[in-house]
Amino acid sequence: MARTLWIGTSWKMTKTIQEARTFAEALSDASIPEHVQPFVLPAHTSLAAVRDALPAGSPVLLGTQNAHWAAEGAGTGEISMRMAADAGATLVEMGHSERREQFGETDEAVARKARAAVDAGLVPLICVGEPAGVRDAGAAEEFVTGQYASALGMLHADEVKRTLVAYEPVWAIGESGRAATAAEVAPVVEALRREAERRGGGTGCRALLYGGSVSTRNAAGLLADVPVDGLFVGRSAWDVSGFLSLLQIAGEHLSGAGATPPA
Ligand code: PGA
Repeated sequence: MARTLWIGTSWKMTKTIQEARTFAEALSDASIPEHVQPFVLPAHTSLAAVRDALPAGSPVLLGTQNAHWAAEGAGTGEISMRMAADAGATLVEMGHSERREQFGETDEAVARKARAAVDAGLVPLICVGEPAGVRDAGAAEEFVTGQYASALGMLHADEVKRTLVAYEPVWAIGESGRAATAAEVAPVVEALRREAERRGGGTGCRALLYGGSVSTRNAAGLLADVPVDGLFVGRSAWDVSGFLSLLQIAGEHLSGAGATPPA
């Protein structure tokens, strides 16, 4: 079986409906390299518009940046998993550091969201990552695998196999972030892989991604030197040309690597 590389972007709190549609239309016109799995996480307001702008059978998967664990009811400002799926989501992001920091999203909430996503037939995209102080204290691997283990706490092994995990060190994300080196990222990714295999058995989770200041400058190096199944990108993929360049870089990596399965 050929290896797949996942390249995704969260648009975070950017793009009007029209801006989102324009991106989706440009993406529809572009050719996607073989064995590259693109995904896009628009804001809730434009999710359905992006779905409608993509042609039937488009390889691009869509997701939401957040959804509540409850099936429905008193959750002001939230949407349910069912509503996310209805608007076109296949994936549901959870546990991003911005949500943990700004909205108090806890490990327990992430676990409940992962459970609810699987119950709704959606794929959880679980984000984990350590703050700078934890890394400075030499505890990044322990911290991140702890977050991940909690997130998987309500899933059975066969359900873990369907999930995605993104390692995103807090200090590497966003405008104030510092791009991590492959040497900083690789040991944590390896620790997450071992945890995924322990929880999910066999090959562990569906895909293990890296995110945090990924750009066209460092993507090829990260793919070459870190044992990841893809990249999760913010700012550098908000412009469609940036996203397409990253898809291309992933395609070139696969053809250079002979599209072999991960070791
Ligand atoms: P960034 O965001 O690529 O803009 O650093 C990454 C993320 O938050 O997923």
